[in-house]
Amino acid sequence: MWVRAARALRALRRALLLLPLALMAAALILLPRPQPVPPPIRAPSSVAPRIDLPAHQIENAITENNDVFIRDLDDVSQRPWYMRGGEQRPNEHDPHASLFPEDAPGDDRIIQQLMYILPKDENPPIKRILLANGLGAWGVPAGRTEFIRNKCPVDRCSITADARDAGTADAVLFKDHHTPFNVKRPLNQIWILYYLECPYHTASLRPTSLDVFNWTSTYRRDSDLVAPYERWVYHDPLVTEKELDRNYAANKTKKVAWFVSNCHARNRRLQFARQLSKFIQVDIYGACGSHHCPRTDPNCLDMLDKDYKFYLAFENSNCRDYITEKFFVNGLQHNVLPIVMGARASEYAAAAPHNSYVHVEEFANAEELAAYLHRLDENDTLYNSYFKWKGTGEFINTYFFCRVCAMVHASERRQRSAHYTDVQAWWRDGACTRADWRAAERDTRDNG
Ligand SMILES: *[C@@H]1O[C@H](CO)[C@@H](O)[C@H](O)[C@H]1NC(C)=O
Ligand SMILES: *[C@@H]1O[C@H](CO)[C@@H](O)[C@H](O)[C@H]1NC(C)=O
Ligand SMILES: *[C@@H]1O[C@H](CO)[C@@H](O)[C@H](O)[C@H]1NC(C)=O
Repeated sequence: MWVRAARALRALRRALLLLPLALMAAALILLPRPQPVPPPIRAPSSVAPRIDLPAHQIENAITENNDVFIRDLDDVSQRPWYMRGGEQRPNEHDPHASLFPEDAPGDDRIIQQLMYILPKDENPPIKRILLANGLGAWGVPAGRTEFIRNKCPVDRCSITADARDAGTADAVLFKDHHTPFNVKRPLNQIWILYYLECPYHTASLRPTSLDVFNWTSTYRRDSDLVAPYERWVYHDPLVTEKELDRNYAANKTKKVAWFVSNCHARNRRLQFARQLSKFIQVDIYGACGSHHCPRTDPNCLDMLDKDYKFYLAFENSNCRDYITEKFFVNGLQHNVLPIVMGARASEYAAAAPHNSYVHVEEFANAEELAAYLHRLDENDTLYNSYFKWKGTGEFINTYFFCRVCAMVHASERRQRSAHYTDVQAWWRDGACTRADWRAAERDTRDNG
């Protein structure tokens, strides 16, 4: 059964591998546009002759023929403001923008929140946001600085950490705990519960605190204000791959690396890694293994660029949408292929660049995973296919406080009212599994 599932997954994976090619082909046929990333001209014999029009002529041609205006996304300043060098700011108020979970189920809405503005010429009163745990917990100054210096599209907000403002603030942000104030809560004051960690590592709330929150802010995509560890954005959604100008397998002599300090994670990742090591070389650094490299030594992660083909980006818990820096920073931001365990395969697919990792649940067991890693190890073309996403986009700053401000204003404009009747149930029920997701989902099926 597992084997069949793994086969089906691999077939699906192959289909997915072809999808961007099909999309690009379709795009090339349908749109008379140049490829935004011109491949270096190497072997021109099989390549159709390209007509090198200046960008503005191409744009004109497209606008005239198709009535579609396509921006030149290679021009950094044409990118949206939240990208590096981007200067495009929102210029129209959209009363129906997808900002709240019910507006776009399954979507994290971060981009829409970053591009939301108030109607021009309207200057509603400044919203006051109270940080219940103090300024230090957030590393922001009091007042409007945070909104002004980040050039938030909606900047009519002010931060306070003074408990005396509890009776008048428009929103109160609670980090990890709910510490009630001794004043009557004003009608319309929005209470936001923020969690950085996954449910196993957050404290339980008092029973009286379960129904007081209006919004949540966590890494989970169905939070009101999604706060992921990193957010990947393509420069051009149609271009998810680039020609490689180097061989990522070059000079690498070692197979799998893992840096780990907690040897008793609930998802039994250590057992899985040990099992994997029976079939392929796995160097375990830290308390649970025999290799050593001090955390503070930057050369440790350099080894991922130079020596290792694979890196185990195993989270300490298998929880819905829980994908941390282990994957985004240690893995993707080095020249190594991350092998992931944590969230569901579909959740990685939604958050990660296309074809940038291997999920352990694509395989029936550690032995089959090892067999695939050996295949990648022996075939540089196949190995390098996992690096074509590099340079097609970036990890953006998601400007948390800009979005808080935009949402507080939008909520009032829409006269939206919402609260969690049991925020713990939302946060915990069914969110994590101690087994892998396939087993968890099989159990649910069997029981229901
Ligand atoms: C591999 O090693 C050679 C010789 O030291 C070096 O010139 C080359 O840049 C290295 N390649 C990569 C991709 O690091
Ligand atoms: C290596 O992988 C590529 C891409 O999947 C494939 O086309 C090629 O046939 C493979 N080569 C070998 C020797 O298996
Ligand atoms: C916030 O939640 C409380 C109950 O916890 C509710 O009475 C109030 O209407 C909500 N306000 C908004 C603006 O959603």
